[in-house]
Amino acid sequence: MTKVLIDCDPGHDDATAILYAAHHLDLVGITTVYGNQSVEKTTRNALSLTALLGIDVPVARGCEQPLLRPFRHGGDVHGKTGIDGAELPAPRQDVVDSHAVDFIIETARRYRDELVLCPIGPFTNVALAMRKEPRLAGWLRGISCMGGTTQVGNTTPVAEFNIWSDPEAADIVFRCGAPLWMVGLNVTRQVGITTHDIERLEAGGLVARTYGGLFGFFRQRLSEIHGLSTASLHDPCALVPFIAPELITYANCPVEIELGDGLTRGMTVCDFRNLTTAKLENIRARATTNCQVAISVDGRALVDHIMEAIVGWGDAGGAIGA
Ligand code: RIB
Ligand code: CA
Repeated sequence: MTKVLIDCDPGHDDATAILYAAHHLDLVGITTVYGNQSVEKTTRNALSLTALLGIDVPVARGCEQPLLRPFRHGGDVHGKTGIDGAELPAPRQDVVDSHAVDFIIETARRYRDELVLCPIGPFTNVALAMRKEPRLAGWLRGISCMGGTTQVGNTTPVAEFNIWSDPEAADIVFRCGAPLWMVGLNVTRQVGITTHDIERLEAGGLVARTYGGLFGFFRQRLSEIHGLSTASLHDPCALVPFIAPELITYANCPVEIELGDGLTRGMTVCDFRNLTTAKLENIRARATTNCQVAISVDGRALVDHIMEAIVGWGDAGGAIGA
């Protein structure tokens, strides 16, 4: 079974990725980072989610800020707790002693050639781990991230939140040389929880009802901000290559990150040109491919697959107030 470490900023869709990974894969660790909210809040959310799901997975707390620029924590989309819409149980474990950066390095060393690292928040922890341990990229089976877009952005017209939050960190990760899968908004926005799905969850057990409440809040916020009619399940898409690879199609493509200060900062520049020669005066040569980029998805089938994992999750005694 594929071993995964999720680096996240829970986050409604991060919470879905944790359940989906725990249901289908060997989730060996969770590391937290700022993003949707402060790292204090995203860490508490991760701990509460392990309590709700009744999973014994270590959680390591990570970075509060990007590598270079000060960051104002989210809250726009995921609410003041970072996971508004349902009451989660109190944590039943504390974070491990290691910082997330060290936990990532040690877990990759322990599961050498087996571990898939899944960044689904800003890439700051992963980038620092790459810098602290230069051998890290060679120890990983691969990196499968939710981030970027081949088309429209969300945080800016062309940039997606995880990349925009720390473009320098994303640049380090995209250049690291490990096998890399990138699923961006061009695909993840097609993977949406509908009001009918929410009604189904609300008629289920404790875990299903909790996720129904979370998705109800998340869908409402995405509707208010982006005019979307569904709750986009961005983050669990990063796990699909290892759970149901037939549902998302990837293409080999060079991806470069815009690091400038201008309008396109944080853009994932995906070069799909089919250049047949590199010796040209004015046409910029295509960089060497460094990434598998998601280009299409069977959105409804993937939502159904994720829904089955949620509905089928036995209530683990993470009862509120237990
Ligand atoms: O742009 C979507 C991404 O930003 C998701 O990972 C969501 O959780 C937020 O972190
Ligand atoms: Ca996230």
